[in-house]
Amino acid sequence: MRLSQQNVSFSDEELDIRSSKLLSLITYPHYSESEYKDRIIEMESLGITSIILGGKTIVNSAPIAGKGGVGIVVKSKAGSKVCALKIRRTDADRKTMDNEARFHKIANSAGVGPTLQGQTKNLIAMDFVTGQRIIDWAGNKASRSKMCTVATAILEQCFSLDVAGLDHGELSRLARHVIVSDGPSIIDFESASTTRKTCNVTAAAQSIFLYGIVANKLRMILGNIDREKVIHALRTYKKIHTRANFDAVLDSLLI
Ligand SMILES: Nc1ncnc2c1ncn2[C@@H]1O[C@H](COP(=O)(O)OP(=O)(O)OP(=O)(O)O)[C@@H](O)[C@H]1O
Ligand SMILES: [Mg+2]
Repeated sequence: MRLSQQNVSFSDEELDIRSSKLLSLITYPHYSESEYKDRIIEMESLGITSIILGGKTIVNSAPIAGKGGVGIVVKSKAGSKVCALKIRRTDADRKTMDNEARFHKIANSAGVGPTLQGQTKNLIAMDFVTGQRIIDWAGNKASRSKMCTVATAILEQCFSLDVAGLDHGELSRLARHVIVSDGPSIIDFESASTTRKTCNVTAAAQSIFLYGIVANKLRMILGNIDREKVIHALRTYKKIHTRANFDAVLDSLLI
């Protein structure tokens, strides 16, 4: 049997940030001594003392929490506090994490996203979200009422972002940007903008209910919806982001 990443679980191994086992993770994917030294100093400035290996993503044979195009994410410790550390990839298409941190703070002010703990040129430290990516969670056959609760909470968070004027930018790729534990957490604000028109609710609603891999999985449990009614409600909301128009979206989704 082929072991998929979803059903393999690795035990946690806590390593001092200077452990040689972490060299290639801290400067993934290209090691350079000067970059490595800078990043160790940055970790120290954030109070990060250790990195805990574990998770379903494997990078250079090490299990970690996650990997994307901009960063790799590892569980880490600042003293006794556990946090998620996003480390800028050395081949990322941006030179610093400054913009992402700025947008992340705006999201936090709107009550959205894991709380940002600190930031340096190459690092973002934030609360660690224990849970499953929504795509895996949706495959685990949650009950209809739990799914409705999670879908509503995602849309409420999106409404808060719309009201705050922050467009996440990647909620049409919902599968990679929501982690579900007790409730859902929207992550990754690197593509956000305060100047684009906000379309968080519309992008997420389409991803949850209408098109794509998450919608296909959730629809099996949430049941069919009146697509025309939903599309009409979303069009009206798209014109003016009022609470009444948002409530009409929720109403059309029968959640
Ligand atoms: N706060 C967190 N707690 C736990 N895991 C996290 C956290 N933030 C991110 N992750 C994990 O790390 C993965 C990569 O994080 P993130 O999406 O921020 O990186 P990225 O490089 O911007 O990715 P992408 O290229 O998909 O946009 C996520 O899919 C998730 O599995
Ligand atoms: Mg990203």
